[in-house]
Amino acid sequence: MTLEKQQSFEDSPLWKLKVRLQFSGWLQYIIHAIFALIMFAIAGIGWLIGYWPILLFWVPLAIATFLSITFFGTIIIVKYGIHPTERIPADKKLLDTFDLMRARHSCRSFQSRNLTAEHQTELMEAVKLYSQHNQLLGQQPIRFEYIAAPLTVWPIVGAHEFLVAIAPREYNRLSVIDVGRSLQKIVINATRMGLATCWIGPGADQKSIVEHLDGKFEPKKDHVICVCAIGYESMFKPLMIRLQKLILNRRLPLSELFFTDPDCKIALETDSSPFDKYGRCYEVCQWSPSSFNGQTTRCAAISDKIENHDKLIRFDFFPATTSRYYAAVALGIWCANWETGCAALNKHGHFAVLSPEERASDGTSDLPRYDVSWIID
Ligand SMILES: Cc1cc2nc3c(=O)[nH]c(=O)nc-3n(C[C@H](O)[C@H](O)[C@H](O)COP(=O)(O)O)c2cc1C
Repeated sequence: MTLEKQQSFEDSPLWKLKVRLQFSGWLQYIIHAIFALIMFAIAGIGWLIGYWPILLFWVPLAIATFLSITFFGTIIIVKYGIHPTERIPADKKLLDTFDLMRARHSCRSFQSRNLTAEHQTELMEAVKLYSQHNQLLGQQPIRFEYIAAPLTVWPIVGAHEFLVAIAPREYNRLSVIDVGRSLQKIVINATRMGLATCWIGPGADQKSIVEHLDGKFEPKKDHVICVCAIGYESMFKPLMIRLQKLILNRRLPLSELFFTDPDCKIALETDSSPFDKYGRCYEVCQWSPSSFNGQTTRCAAISDKIENHDKLIRFDFFPATTSRYYAAVALGIWCANWETGCAALNKHGHFAVLSPEERASDGTSDLPRYDVSWIID
């Protein structure tokens, strides 16, 4: 029944038009135009009724005029790329590890220039390193294919170089987590090089990706988990993308992400001993990227009684939703940021998947559902 409803909705001409505009790269601009038209309509109504001329006529007219000018300007500048050539951004090699991870953000407008040969070589070295079997948590291989083509993605503009994350066709939770963890390490590396990145999952058109993978994809064995656009950030962005950044640039407080119990009910006091020894590791997990900024990962610091003292022994990572793909990717991204932060602080540990017995859990809890632990060495 639900499927039927969904199908008939997706068959409607309005939905088809939306998808066509979305994947032809026009929807970002059309939304801008719709706002301008709404403002013109309000100004028109204000003019007709004649009340509060400032509020109902002049203000909406000024906004509508501003939006119309920026609408045409954005099409000329961003869509058709008519603007002075932009510089290659400086690298971020002088930033400390935590500032570097905080400097990463999703770039949704890319310059038209290609990666330089040096940047491409360095990027592919990171890809090779972090896809190696000994770097993974799971047993199954994952890989990242580089594509230089303007894939159909939403709402990102100008992206024409991508890494496509591929895991085995048969669902394997650890492989999906590995995609998040390994790709985030590549992203951190790229950020250090001064490159801009954007993880793209629901906004990527699978058909377009598979077409461009051209012989590097076996439908019976492979599954595309997501893509990551890589390039140089452009200062020229559609208004809609600027607004989206404003809306999505917020995070849940640490008290809603870190806990002291496996049911994720009691907030962790990250500033008090011994948890404060992990400094900004909490913050870089908090500011990790996640699909639609869903922030689906939780973490519990687990202590054990050793010689009558509570001793911190590990951190358990959980997804807060049942999503099979994007929550697992987001959890992998947290793992990458956590261990990169720990390495910077010289805190030793390793990831392991513990059984319910090892965690002293009855294993019945649906959510949050345990995925992996960081065991303090
Ligand atoms: C698995 C995954 C999929 C994502 N898919 C998209 C997408 O399809 N389109 C998009 O614009 N952003 C996508 N994002 C980026 C998120 O929207 C972004 O990380 C979040 O809004 C937080 O913003 P920030 O990355 O700038 O910190 C994705 C992120 C992740 C981790």
